Amino acid sequence: AERRVYKIASIPADGIGPEVISAGITVLQTLSKALGTFDLAIEHFDWSSATYLKTGKYIPDGGHEKLKQFDAILFGAVGAPNVPDHISLWGLRLAICQPFQQYANVRPTRVLRGTQSPLRNCKTGDLDWVIVRENSEGEYAGQGGRSHAGQPWEVATELAIFTRHAVERLLRFAFETARSRPRKLLTFVTKSNAQRNGMVLWDEVCEIVAREFPDVKLDKMLVDAMTVRMVLKPESLDTIVATNLHADILSDLAAALAGSIGIAPTSNLDPTRKNPSMFEPIHGSAFDIAGKGIANPVATFWTAAEMLAWLGEKDAAAALMECVERVCERGITTPDLGGTATTVAVTDAVCQEIEREF
Ligand code: NAI
Ligand code: MG
Repeated sequence: AERRVYKIASIPADGIGPEVISAGITVLQTLSKALGTFDLAIEHFDWSSATYLKTGKYIPDGGHEKLKQFDAILFGAVGAPNVPDHISLWGLRLAICQPFQQYANVRPTRVLRGTQSPLRNCKTGDLDWVIVRENSEGEYAGQGGRSHAGQPWEVATELAIFTRHAVERLLRFAFETARSRPRKLLTFVTKSNAQRNGMVLWDEVCEIVAREFPDVKLDKMLVDAMTVRMVLKPESLDTIVATNLHADILSDLAAALAGSIGIAPTSNLDPTRKNPSMFEPIHGSAFDIAGKGIANPVATFWTAAEMLAWLGEKDAAAALMECVERVCERGITTPDLGGTATTVAVTDAVCQEIEREF
């Protein structure tokens, strides 16, 4: 049979980004070789805060047109001590997500076998969630401004934008995600008691979209109460949908409850598939541990699996996660998960597991 070929753009960027992306690519190439069913043509882009400091730009002219030719983007993390975070985030990550209309940010979390939740009674299987985050507008739409700069009466506004179009397409995607999972349970999170315009629009649109999904059980929560439920009753949740800001915060909590920020992946999807989607670990550039060789590569392995699944290689994705969990079960983990292994040792162990399996 003919081998399928996927064109992948790799953007490792800053801090531990290059360390974990290099680990992710090693594992992906090992998997591709072992399975023999697909090939990855990977091209590297050195877009980073160092490039920005040199050239004044994160993405060079013509960069988007170039990226558009790829099937997917594998992204590390952006953020450096000598560049303000809002410049790096808007200069690279959001500068890809927004023009490419990657409007659905999908963040699966679960307690992997061989790892432990900080919650006393939470075992593997008790916490198995997918958070769907609106990724194109809301509080991160970029509207607002500052006046009276430097005066005692200086004012700043940050305007949250919610359009019926964007809310509807995102909710439909979230219902479809819930439907694709065994429990068919969607928890819809807002703050419509206090945010009485945008969040009430979300409520109204949700009611309409829900009619298309009578088989999905809909459950509504306010975001503050949701944090309590995530901690006290993790087993009562499955698929979760929320705004850009709310879901950003909830998903960091989710990653911590599952054991470490170092294991969780995130996908920035254009569900219309007109543009390439972008896959990245949920964590940032972690410059406190950059260069030490101890960054947990598991988040990037899981990210790679999510990317393969999106490209249609569902069996390869499941096989990769099985190998990652076996390595965790054998206790080969980085310090954030309580182990003593290095990034390279975990990567080698996963590669050996893949080679043993196939
Ligand atoms: P962070 O995720 O980089 O680090 C938070 C804590 O988790 C640190 O103690 C770090 O050592 C630890 N950690 C993170 N990833 C880890 C891994 N793979 N293995 C082991 N430990 C890990 O978040 P922080 O410190 O808030 O942000 C640092 C920089 O990253 C900032 O410039 C921020 O803007 C940027 N950032 C970028 C993101 C992106 O590119 N998507 C996402 C989040 C933050
Ligand atoms: Mg975040």
